[in-house]
Amino acid sequence: DWTTGNVIEEQVAAIREQVGDRRAICGLSGGVDSAVAAALVQKAIGSQLTCVYVDHGLMRKGETEQVEKDFVAATGVQLKVVDAEERFLTALKGVSDPEEKRKIIGREFIRVFEQAQAEIIADQGPAVEFLVQGTLYPDVVESGGGTGTANIKSHHNVGGLPEDLEFKLIEPLRKLFKDEVRMVGQELGLPDEIVQRQPFPGPGLGIRIVGEVTKERLDLLREADAIAREELTAAGLDRDIWQCPVVLLADVRSVGVQGDGRTYGHPIVLRPVSSEDAMTADWSRLPYDVLARISTRITNEVRDVNRVVLDVTSKPPGTIEWE
Ligand code: XMP
Repeated sequence: DWTTGNVIEEQVAAIREQVGDRRAICGLSGGVDSAVAAALVQKAIGSQLTCVYVDHGLMRKGETEQVEKDFVAATGVQLKVVDAEERFLTALKGVSDPEEKRKIIGREFIRVFEQAQAEIIADQGPAVEFLVQGTLYPDVVESGGGTGTANIKSHHNVGGLPEDLEFKLIEPLRKLFKDEVRMVGQELGLPDEIVQRQPFPGPGLGIRIVGEVTKERLDLLREADAIAREELTAAGLDRDIWQCPVVLLADVRSVGVQGDGRTYGHPIVLRPVSSEDAMTADWSRLPYDVLARISTRITNEVRDVNRVVLDVTSKPPGTIEWE
């Protein structure tokens, strides 16, 4: 008989058995899956788990704080936060090509994460044997069902570590679908803002700025995105929408008239979509009054933005993200 209570009980017992008195590491991305996986493992083995959160500076407004404060408060988890904003911004300097951005962000992420892992192992010793991953059932099916180990190449100068670290995987969500993961997260007492969060790409806002990624542009986009999310939530539309990317066209300027006169600013694109699995999608028919509120607030409150446009393209041919 499937209940979230049974799933939690079963997994907690299995994880305790698997880990014994050894230790585990879990990377938190800010997304639902890693958060629920971490919370489950935390419930099972407590302080034998250490979580790592890499702040790459490309998160949306409030997301890092939600992990640092609300997630920790809800779970009591031991968390190592790495502030790597400078490092990512430096690596992204001058880069506009989307695939190039993805490559750089992915590469830097792995480096920073491995460095943090190496520090934890140097600190806690060889008992650190497990890596927690928020793999879901659809991921298992897609990848052919294998489970096992992850090899982490350690090219960092942390004394006494083997060249090649091997972790055994803990994947407590392997039998669950997304909606079941959300129910388990809720039962574990995680905040709604984390459990109900919409999918957000790993490269974050880095691929929602068409053009070069700079701190100033990220701050603008964060404001616009926060306004859109706030109004969509206030209108009760979160469950109708799969995702609503908010995109800054940093390389485009258009003329506007704001306050005392003429402005020459940037457009913000709203890309609300409905979808089952992100493979195909349709643009969401949002109520005009909600769109109007978002548009008015963004042009009033976000410096350098003088135009808000709505993306009315289905997928295919348009992808959900702009980059
Ligand atoms: P597209 O834009 O291809 O997006 O229609 C489909 C889904 O994937 C997400 N997405 C990404 N997720 N890294 C990720 O982790 C990426 O580089 C990436 N690109 C797109 C997108 O948000 C949507 O949910």
